Order: sequence, then structure tokens, then C-alpha cells
Amino acid sequence: MSFRRSHLLGLSGLTAGEIGDLLDRAEGYWDAAAHAGWRTATPVSGLSVVNLILEPSTRTRCSFEIAEQRLGLEHLSVGSDGLSLIKGETLSDTGRTLRSMGVNVFVVRHPEVGAPARMAEELPEAHVINAGDGTGEHPTQGLLDLLVLRRQWGSIEGRRIVVIGDVLHSRVARSTVHGFSALGGSTTLCGPAHLMPEAGGWPGTTIEDDLDRALAGADAVMALRIQRERFGAGELLPDRAGYRARYGLTSDRVARLAPETAIIHPGPFNRDVEIDGDVVDSGRTEVWRQVRAGVAVRMATLAAIGEVHADSAPAARAGAGE
Ligand code: CP
Repeated sequence: MSFRRSHLLGLSGLTAGEIGDLLDRAEGYWDAAAHAGWRTATPVSGLSVVNLILEPSTRTRCSFEIAEQRLGLEHLSVGSDGLSLIKGETLSDTGRTLRSMGVNVFVVRHPEVGAPARMAEELPEAHVINAGDGTGEHPTQGLLDLLVLRRQWGSIEGRRIVVIGDVLHSRVARSTVHGFSALGGSTTLCGPAHLMPEAGGWPGTTIEDDLDRALAGADAVMALRIQRERFGAGELLPDRAGYRARYGLTSDRVARLAPETAIIHPGPFNRDVEIDGDVVDSGRTEVWRQVRAGVAVRMATLAAIGEVHADSAPAARAGAGE
């Protein structure tokens, strides 16, 4: 089944067919993703995009902007310091204000879980892409992880990934694990007990406390940053040296991995905590291919939403002032 949704709010609930369709489309943009100045011969028409980036971002923000540019889309990006949210305006009124200027796609990064979904409900005639909502989901990051791994293996079916670290606070882990499971893979979660998700909460996962046991026979391993900014009062922050010894992807651990085990990390890295700087710099990981995949996946998502928009009833679009 093709991806035919108005919004991309998460990978949970998407079918294998929908995820596969977005990955197939992204494959078609693989060369364009790393090609400076590339422009599509068939611009996506009818979309005007605002990237509402209300939390810090390097990879997601810049790759959406590059994707929009290469697809020939009208676009701009704004952060929380440049918006009237600071004067008390609601996100929904910000959206309505931009809708009145003809904006019809919102790429939303927000510190609160569910903020993009609420915006999608409140602006039903617009399209919303979740670019990371608190500890919720980060669907385009999940897609780019899947794209890199699928390129390497041909298929995710029957593969096992080990996800290490602060899973509890990680929207990346939630999206990647949902996508991995939908495509027939399984996941081992490994990290401090208080940073693991609730029992039975995630599909296709098991928890293993010992990292070296978890890594034996793994097809891929994903290291996660400790999300210090998302810890609440009273939540215990691991000490960095102890964490590295027990859960870090150190040079020694990587040397013991099978050569074909893929190493991914969503970035940004805390070098020599969850992953050694030497491992990042070794050329042994997929981290820079993940960044390239980010542009391809965001082009694919925008192009798919452009098709949905073009096919939507002209009367509905006229009612929305377009
Ligand atoms: N992986 C990721 O979302 O990175 P940014 O926070 O830099 O966008």
C-alpha cells in the first residue's frame, strides 16, 4: 500500500507497505541528496512549507531546508525566538496565521509530545510533518535509519538491531523500533534499567542488561545520546565514565563486533560517552550515510504529501482559501 496520508506524525500505525513506499521514493532521491545545487526536473507544485523549529536542530532542520530547495518548493524556517509564541500566541494561532498567507505544510519540531498531532487536528486542511516531538516520535529519522540499513541488507525482514542507552527519552528509538518491527525485524534494548521503556510497551522488543551479550550476533547497533535535557527532577543521570564502561560503543567493543554489523547513531554525538570519538572517525559507522539519507527521506516525504495535496478535492482546497 502506498503512503497516501495528509500528515506524517509517527511511524507507529504505518503499515509495512506505507513505510516501504516512502523508502522506495527516498531511494530515488539518493543521488540528489548529496548533490549540491541539484534541482528536480518536476517541481512539486502547490505546496508552501514553513519549518517551525521550536527546539535546537542541525540535521533535521538543514536537511528539510535542502530537501525543500531541491524540490523547488516555497519554504522558510523559523525558530522559537523569531515567532510571536513568545508573546503568548498559541501554536494553533501561529498555524492559522500562516495558513492565511497560503502556507499549507508545517514541519514541526517541538519539545512537547503530541504538539504536531494537535496542530494537524486544528488545521485539518494543512499537512503536518512531525520533525521530533519531545519524547514522542521522530518519523523521518526512523525512516532514514531504515533506509541506510535496507540499502545494506536489501530487506529488514529477520534482522536484529540492538538499541543502546537512554531509550526512555528517545523519540528516535521509538520511531526506528516501530519501523523496524513493521518491516519484520526485531530489537534488543540495552541500557540502565531506569532508562528502559515500560514492559511490553514496544512491539518486537526484548530487554538485555548486558551489552556484550546483546551485541553477540547483532545485525545492527544503534547508540543513543543520554537526553539530559529531558530528565525530570529526581530522575537519575548516569555518570559519564561509568556509563561509557558499561554501555558505551567503545573502540574495544567495536573491534569485537562482526565486520558486517552496521553501526548507526542519530546524532548529535557525545563523543567518548555513548560512542568513542575514534569509532565515529574510523569510517566503520554509517553515521554520515544517515545524514545523506535524511535529505533523501525528507524529499520523499514532501513529494508524497505533494501528491496527496494535488489529489485532494479542489473544493476542499478552495474552502481553505487556496
Ligand atoms: N538526529 C537529529 O534529530 O538531529 P538534530 O537534533 O540535529 O536535528
